[in-house]
Amino acid sequence: MYKTKAYSASSATSPLASTTISRRDPTEHDVQIEILFCGICHSDLHQVRNEWSAVMPTVYPCIPGHEIVGRVTRVGSAVTMFKPGDLAAVGCMVDSDRTCPECQAGFEQYCPNLTLTYNFPDKHLGGVTYGGYSDSIVVDEHFVLHVPANLDLAGVGPLLCAGITTYSPMRYWGVTRGKKAGVVGLGGLGHMAVKFAHRLGAHVVVFTTSPAKRDDARRLGADEVVLSRHADEMQKHAGSFDFILDAVSSEHDINAYLQLLRRDGNLTLVGAPEKPLAVPAFALIFGRHSLSGSAIGGIRETQEMLDFCGEHNITADVEVIPIQKVNEAYERLLKSDVKYRFSIDMASLKSQ
Ligand SMILES: NC(=O)c1ccc[n+]([C@@H]2O[C@H](COP(=O)([O-])OP(=O)(O)OC[C@H]3O[C@@H](n4cnc5c(N)ncnc54)[C@H](OP(=O)(O)O)[C@@H]3O)[C@@H](O)[C@H]2O)c1
Ligand SMILES: [Zn+2]
Ligand SMILES: [Zn+2]
Repeated sequence: MYKTKAYSASSATSPLASTTISRRDPTEHDVQIEILFCGICHSDLHQVRNEWSAVMPTVYPCIPGHEIVGRVTRVGSAVTMFKPGDLAAVGCMVDSDRTCPECQAGFEQYCPNLTLTYNFPDKHLGGVTYGGYSDSIVVDEHFVLHVPANLDLAGVGPLLCAGITTYSPMRYWGVTRGKKAGVVGLGGLGHMAVKFAHRLGAHVVVFTTSPAKRDDARRLGADEVVLSRHADEMQKHAGSFDFILDAVSSEHDINAYLQLLRRDGNLTLVGAPEKPLAVPAFALIFGRHSLSGSAIGGIRETQEMLDFCGEHNITADVEVIPIQKVNEAYERLLKSDVKYRFSIDMASLKSQ
C-alpha cells in the first residue's frame, strides 16, 4: 500500500476536504496512474450528498471522481497494453467478473459483479473504492483506456463519463444522417450529446430551460433550440423525433418529451434524478413509443468513443479549476452555471 492525497466528503452535508488515503501497490495486472485532470460529473454530487440512497447509499468518507485522465507511472509484470509515461484514462468502472454473459459481450457496465470507481466494495483493500479526486489511482489494465495524443487533456476527462454515456445510446438507437434527435438539458452530458449527434449527421434539437444557452447550443452543433418551458415552442415538434436523449439531473415532466416522438420513437433516460418520474401509459401506447435507460458504456465501446473523439477532435468544453474550488463548483453545478463541465487540474492537489 502507499499513501496518496485526495479530497473527500465525510457526510452528506459536509463540504469536500483534503485528506490522505491508501491505494494498493500495483498487482501484476494493474496500472498505476498519476491523475492530471478529473471532471466533475453531476453523479459525483448526487453520490456525495447521498441523493441515491435508495439504490446506492453512500459510504463515508466518499471520494468521488470518475472522469479520470493521467499518465502511467508504474505497471504490473503482466500488463501488456500500457507502459510508464503513456497517457491513460479511467471512467466509471474499475472491475467486473469478466465471465458473465454481459462481460463476455463487452457490456461490463451491466455485469452483476461490477465494481464502480467509487463507493463500491473494494475487493483488494476492503472498504469502498475511492475515485479520481486524488493524486493517483491503481486500476486493472482491462479498465484503463488509451487516450488519443491529439486531444486537450483537460477536456478528455469528461469523455470518460459524459462522453460515453451519451455516445453509447445514440449509437445503439441509430442516431445518424436523416434522423431527428433531441437532447434534453444542456449540461455536461447534454453538451457532449449535441457534439456527437451533430457529428453523426442527425438533425439536432436542444431542449433547454436556460435561454442564455441558446447561442452555445448552436455553436455546439444544434440545428434548432427549444426553450422547454414554452409550450408553444414544444408543440411545434409534436410527433417528429426518432430519438430523444434526456440528460436532466432533477425532477421534470418527461411526458412533454414522449409526445414529441414519432411512431416507434425512443426516449432514453440517462439523467438520474433523485425522485421517480411519472409516465402516463398513453404517452407510450399511442405511437408505440418506447422509454428506456442507458448506463455509461462498455470498455470496448468507450475506447471506440475515445478514438472517434481523436479522429474528429472532440473534447468537452471545460472550465478548469483547482481542487480547492470543488465545493463552489458543486453549488454552481446545481445552478447550471458551468460551460459545460468542470475539470479539476490535479496539480493543485500537490500543493495542498
Ligand atoms: N446513465 C448514466 O450512466 C449516467 C452517467 C453520468 C451521469 N448521469 C446522470 O445524468 C444527469 C446529468 O448529469 P450532468 O453531469 O450532465 O449534469 P449537469 O451538468 O448538472 O446537467 C444537467 C442539466 O439538466 C438541466 N436541468 C437541471 N435541472 C433541471 C430541471 N429542474 N428541469 C429541467 N432541466 C433541468 C440543465 O440544463 P438546461 O440548463 O439546458 O435546462 C442542466 O444543465 C445526472 O442526474 C447524472 O447523475 C447518468
Ligand atoms: Zn458520471
Ligand atoms: Zn460480468
